[in-house]
Amino acid sequence: KRPAGAPDPQLARPLKKVGVVGAGLMAGQLAQVFATHLKVPVVMTDLDQERVNRGVAAVRANFEKLAAKGRISASDAEQLASLISGSVSQDVFSDADFVIEAIFEEIELKKKVLRQLETIVSPECILASNTSSLSITEMSSALEHPERMIGFHFFNPVAVMPLVELVRGPETTDEVLATGFVTAQKLRKTAVLVHDAPAFVVNRILLRMMGEVQNSFDEGTDAHTADHALDPMALPMTPFTLLAMVGLPVAQHVTESLNKAFGDERFPVSPNIQRLIDGQKTAIWAKDDASSDD
Ligand code: CAA
Repeated sequence: KRPAGAPDPQLARPLKKVGVVGAGLMAGQLAQVFATHLKVPVVMTDLDQERVNRGVAAVRANFEKLAAKGRISASDAEQLASLISGSVSQDVFSDADFVIEAIFEEIELKKKVLRQLETIVSPECILASNTSSLSITEMSSALEHPERMIGFHFFNPVAVMPLVELVRGPETTDEVLATGFVTAQKLRKTAVLVHDAPAFVVNRILLRMMGEVQNSFDEGTDAHTADHALDPMALPMTPFTLLAMVGLPVAQHVTESLNKAFGDERFPVSPNIQRLIDGQKTAIWAKDDASSDD
C-alpha cells in the first residue's frame, strides 16, 4: 500500500551518487546508511581537510566495527568503505543526483550553502535538508529551482531509528517527492510526509515532553526523579540520556525554533541547558548528585 501523501513510486528516480554536505557525526551516519543500502558512492564535504579526513575515517571505521561484530563480512566492509570519500570542494557534487545537507542549524547559512550547491549540481539533482526544525519553504526560496528541494529528516542514531520525516516544499515536484519515498524505503526507513511546520511533528512532540521534564526539574524535582519518573512507560532511554545523545546544542536549536513559533508558555528555553552549553559548571545532573545513581 502506498504511504499517505506519497506520489506514484513509478515517478521515482534511482540514485547513482549521493552527496552529504558536512562530515560531522550526523553527516557520517547519513553517509553510512546511504552507502549501506543504496550501494552507491557517497561523497562528504566539509570546511577543511582535517574535518573531511576525520569524517570519512569515522564512517570507514564503523564498517570495520560491524565486520568485527560479525554483522557484515570483511569483504563487504571493505567494499562499503570504498564507497565513502570526501573533499573540501563541492565540485565533487557535480555528478551527484541527490545531495543532502547536514550542517549547522542556521537558516541563513543553509540558504547560502543551498544557493552555492545549485551552481554546481546538475539540473536534475535533488537537494535535501536534514534540518530538525527549520523551514523547508524558506530554504527552498533561496533556490532558482525550488522544485528540487525536499526535507529529509532522520533521527539519532540514524542506523537504528526507523523513521524519516519527509517535507514537501511549496514547489517540490511529485517526481522529487516520489524519489524521497522510494529512497527512504530502500534505506529501510518508514517515511512519513509531514507538514512544513517548526520542528515538523516528532521533535515538536518530543521537545514538549522533554521541556516538561526540564520544567519539573527547574521547579525543584530532583534530577533523578524527573529523569526516571517515566520509567514505567518503558521509554527506550531516559529523557536526560536522550538529551545527551541528541546533543545539547541541537536540542537547544530545536527548542529555540519552537519557542520563536509558539512562545515561552509551550516551549520555554531552559537557562540550565544554555549554561551547560556555555560550559559552566551548573550541570542539571550535578545539581543534586546525591540522589542520582546512574
Ligand atoms: N549508533 C549506531 N548504532 C547504535 C547506536 C548508535 N549511537 N546505539 C545503539 N546502536 C545499535 C546497537 O549497535 C544495536 O545494534 P545491533 O543489535 O545490531 O548490535 C542496536 O542499536 C540496539 O542497541 P543496544 O541493545 O545497545 O541498545 P538499546 O536496545 O538500548 O537501543 C537505542 C539503543 C536504539 C538508541 C534506544 O535506546 C532508543 O531507541 N533510544 C531513543 C532514541 C530516540 O528517541 N531518538 C530520537 C532522538 S530525536 C532526534 O534525533 C531528532 C532530532 O532531530 C534532534
